[in-house]
Amino acid sequence: MKKIGILTGGADCPGLNSVIRAVVRKAMQEGYVVTGIKNGWAGLIENDMRILDLRLTSGILDRGGTILGTSRFRPPLSPEHLRTITENFKRSGIDALIAVGGEDTLKIALELINYSSLPIIGVPKSIDNALSGTDYAFGFDTAVNIAAECIDRLHTTAESHHRIIVIEVMGKYTGWIALEAGIAGGADIILVPEYPINMDEVCNALTIRHKRGRSFSILVVSEGAKIQGLPETSFEEGQRLHRVSNIGETLANIIEERTGYETRVSVLGHIQRGGTPTAFDRIISTRFGIKAVELVKEGKFGKMVSLQENKMHYVDIKVAVKKRKTVSDEFFQIAKVFMD
Ligand code: F6P
Repeated sequence: MKKIGILTGGADCPGLNSVIRAVVRKAMQEGYVVTGIKNGWAGLIENDMRILDLRLTSGILDRGGTILGTSRFRPPLSPEHLRTITENFKRSGIDALIAVGGEDTLKIALELINYSSLPIIGVPKSIDNALSGTDYAFGFDTAVNIAAECIDRLHTTAESHHRIIVIEVMGKYTGWIALEAGIAGGADIILVPEYPINMDEVCNALTIRHKRGRSFSILVVSEGAKIQGLPETSFEEGQRLHRVSNIGETLANIIEERTGYETRVSVLGHIQRGGTPTAFDRIISTRFGIKAVELVKEGKFGKMVSLQENKMHYVDIKVAVKKRKTVSDEFFQIAKVFMD
């Protein structure tokens, strides 16, 4: 009987458990045994794994987080980690590994494929929706819905108090969450990393809007948005990844000082990654999990399952991580219609 290993790596997000559940169900139907590797790549370094069965994976479809736990490992892996993972993988008797994760997890999968030809299949997870080769990664839709709901709530308090509210959302390198949640929440200004802007433009737009008779405004900003004239935040430092950019706070201070309008800031942070997945995310993560087992059966390794025009496909992991999927001009122009 063949053994499939599954791990969830990098940042958690809603939908990870739906993938695990789907993989176990489909794998058992196909006559495979599934081993859950604990805490992402750390589980393969520390040999921490256990067999997953229907009992352990039922009732988890709608549960946020991951029953397997996760950890952050940033590429490149050290030679020692590459060696240990390869040795433990071979010793465990796993025939194929399903690695569920974003950019870092899949880049590490690629390093392992290049280092020792490990048979790995990737499943795209990313609240930032930054992976190429797939229309959506799971987790993104939930994050957008949570952020849009928060924007709605902040709208009513901004309006009552005649204030500007700056809402900082996640997205270090790509502005998908800010853009989609901002459009859905009717934001007046949306700032994303892909389209740098200067503070004069921001303050002018707010002043014009207020002179038109509106007494409040909503500004949504990605944590990694670039503001011309302000120092850029570096999020990376070797194996560490920082989240805090303070961009929301910085913007709010400058806006209040320059326009004279009372301004508040709200940083949504990890709330965007918690809790139950949307129906859309439950469905795509279930489809991804089933497709991943099908690829194991067909022996198509080095691939990432993907959603293209609502059909299940697969692409080379190499393609998925080569270049980030950034906000397209077409999409940004939609937001611009409501900013001027
Ligand atoms: O990569 C997903 C993500 O949620 C980013 O949007 C965010 O910048 C980062 O993870 C936060 O990471 P951590 O949970 O390690 O602070």
